[in-house]
Amino acid sequence: MVLGFSKKPAALSADQQATLEEALRAVRHPAFDQDIVSLEWVGAAEQTKKDHVTVELILPTLALSGRAALEQEVIEKAKTALSVAEVELKILSNVLPAAGSGKEQQALPGIQNVLLIASGKGGVGKSTVAANFAAALAKLGCKVGLLDADVYGPSVPTMLGIQDGARPGTIPGENDERPKLLPMTRHGLKLMSMGFLVDMDQPMVWRGPMIASASMQMFRDVAWDELDYLVVDLPPGTGDIHLTIAQQILVTGAVIVSTPQDVALADVIRAKNMFDKVGIPSLGLVENMSYFICDNCDKRHEIFAHGGAHQAADKLGLDFLGEIPIEVSVRSAGDAGTPVVIEHPESASAKAFIELAQNVATTLAVTGEQNMQQSLGPAISISGTPKKPGPKGGLPILS
Ligand SMILES: Nc1ncnc2c1ncn2[C@@H]1O[C@H](COP(=O)(O)OP(=O)(O)OP(=O)(O)O)[C@@H](O)[C@H]1O
Ligand SMILES: [Mg+2]
Repeated sequence: MVLGFSKKPAALSADQQATLEEALRAVRHPAFDQDIVSLEWVGAAEQTKKDHVTVELILPTLALSGRAALEQEVIEKAKTALSVAEVELKILSNVLPAAGSGKEQQALPGIQNVLLIASGKGGVGKSTVAANFAAALAKLGCKVGLLDADVYGPSVPTMLGIQDGARPGTIPGENDERPKLLPMTRHGLKLMSMGFLVDMDQPMVWRGPMIASASMQMFRDVAWDELDYLVVDLPPGTGDIHLTIAQQILVTGAVIVSTPQDVALADVIRAKNMFDKVGIPSLGLVENMSYFICDNCDKRHEIFAHGGAHQAADKLGLDFLGEIPIEVSVRSAGDAGTPVVIEHPESASAKAFIELAQNVATTLAVTGEQNMQQSLGPAISISGTPKKPGPKGGLPILS
């Protein structure tokens, strides 16, 4: 089919659009069980110049794994089908909620997915993983917030380079007496931390109810606006904050961080059992400080026994989401206020964080799609702004 030429951008004719969609029905993403046309990822197409067509592709997340290959395949198929020299993609996204509905907790308005980063044990790298995972999602183009729910020892201010004493602004809320806090922004991330609200040189002597109300304020009284993902860095262990969040917030799931040692793995079981008890799905296990890459020899050194976390994940029925090496640059970048994903994108750890972000976002996108199919039945139409139905179904809680 050869396209006619008009100087102004012009929508393809119905025949041309049908030919294009027919060709694109051959394109599939391995994680989804339908082709991209059936999934309604293909939007409007228009001829923008002679021999040049622009096709809208509405992805379920900009952090989709294998995105570059998928886009290339779409371009090639579209070029052949329409007999044009150039096809350009206009990439949009429509991230759907992957949390189950029917629970009494309410979804946070405008926030599609709330992801907790947790561990049974302190010091395994939760905050490092949370900061880099969030930065990786943002780098891939997603709308991301990072909430530091560690009210006792907040790390986000340091890891994201927010000056000591910096305080967030406020804007009027729906209720005049209760203004909303404006999150700080760094590296495309929206940030909120108890470290922005109180003087961290003073010891925090808080009772349970005060902690509960302070942590809820950071979810509800912050002008997060529209987010694809709100990543929450939790304090270590299984305490008041975990319980409060589970009771009050509709959480998509928890990512459990561990190191390869036996003692840390025992804590994974504890963390997973806690999430099972409070009805939060565990999305999987990340092994941090998995192996060491030496600056001089570039060799991979397995400091702790290798494979322990993978085995523990299998035993617990958890997905193994990835392994992050120990690298000096992870710590130094974190201390200097720029996550390694941004500061040293070429490093093995930065690549591992990007892969982790893609893994998790793609798994959630599959669940989000399943939720939507269940709630709508077949055939919804996306035109202009994609339709975003409410969640239903949700991730299974593993036991
Ligand atoms: N993969 C890594 N390579 C090198 N250093 C790391 C890595 N992961 C974490 N670290 C370093 O280990 C220390 C502890 O990490 P982090 O603060 O993220 O742990 P945490 O689990 O959040 O701790 P806490 O339980 O106290 O909140 C930090 O100094 C951090 O820079
Ligand atoms: Mg921490």
